[in-house]
Amino acid sequence: MAVKKGIKILGTGSSVPDFEVPNDEFAKILDTNDEWITERTGIKTRRFVQEGETSLTLCEDACKKAISEAGIDKEEIGIVIVGTCTADYITPSMACLLQGSLGLDERTLAFDLNAACSGFVYSLNTAYLLLHGSFKKYALVVGVEVLSRVLDYTDRGSSILFGDGAGACVIELSGEKPFVFEAGSIGGAESLNIPMTYQEKNPFTNKEPDTHKQVVNINGNEVYRFVQDAFPKSAAIVFEQAGITPDEIDYFICHQANLRILMASAKKLKVPFEKFFVNIDKYGNTSAASVAIALDELNKTGTLKRGQKLILAGFGGGLTYGSAYLTW
Ligand code: COA
Repeated sequence: MAVKKGIKILGTGSSVPDFEVPNDEFAKILDTNDEWITERTGIKTRRFVQEGETSLTLCEDACKKAISEAGIDKEEIGIVIVGTCTADYITPSMACLLQGSLGLDERTLAFDLNAACSGFVYSLNTAYLLLHGSFKKYALVVGVEVLSRVLDYTDRGSSILFGDGAGACVIELSGEKPFVFEAGSIGGAESLNIPMTYQEKNPFTNKEPDTHKQVVNINGNEVYRFVQDAFPKSAAIVFEQAGITPDEIDYFICHQANLRILMASAKKLKVPFEKFFVNIDKYGNTSAASVAIALDELNKTGTLKRGQKLILAGFGGGLTYGSAYLTW
């Protein structure tokens, strides 16, 4: 009988802009303060790109680090998937741009995947499935956001939440490793959206340019309630399918949406909060990039040991959610 293969992560990388915007800076432009933001979200500061930095420059940096750590021949990368909802262009995709700028083989399947804050875990699962039919060994899975370009800086309920960054990993299929994934979607734009806008008047239909802005619109309370249910629900399915229990997991590497959500999730799963990795204080919510950045941070600090059991989980706009079980 064929062994069901899982995922082996060969290398990780991440990249965040140098420019830091602590909560106090928001207090200068909005009716808010460090205490409120820290208490309600866990965020202390975030990074925003500056002139010359883009989603592509962040991706390139993260990917080069991941490929270098993996120590692989980059010609053997056959799949590039970038989870993002703030790509530099509507087309070309970030994944195609990376194929070019990283000098990857032309025979590379490269595309972006928009599942908002679930983007990295959705991409990981998609790459895993595609690798089964690939004639090459490796996939490059990336999460990137430059959310600073779609924030409404007059809205204290949304602008304080987000940050910019990228994370990446190189994966291969392995008969010695597990991979169990569970995902869901509850479609609707009401609680969280970034709308497209007509920039110019259409001379044929007379449709006027939009007056609304292309910014994040969020009903924080609704998203908060959704996330609180979605993650423990999908994790429970993963535990059942993998035949493991929550207390066997070494690290929960979850999307960094809100510290309170992470704490509540630990409580629901009855696991010590210390098992939940947290870096929202440093980077805010970096949407599709957050899980990948967190994974790289745990790796680079030498915290992860081979064989340790991990849950990676994303949840957010769409609405979407997904949880993955794998081992380091
Ligand atoms: N500073 C000070 N006060 C603020 C504020 C800010 N930055 N943002 C909102 N407030 C005010 C509100 O206006 C409200 O005032 P009111 O009671 O006078 O109306 C009060 O604080 C409480 O607002 P509320 O929205 O109920 O706070 P909350 O505890 O739910 O926290 C979020 C708001 C956004 C932090 C929280 O809902 C959240 O984290 N949601 C999920 C995050 C998310 O959606 N991430 C993206 C997808 S994963």
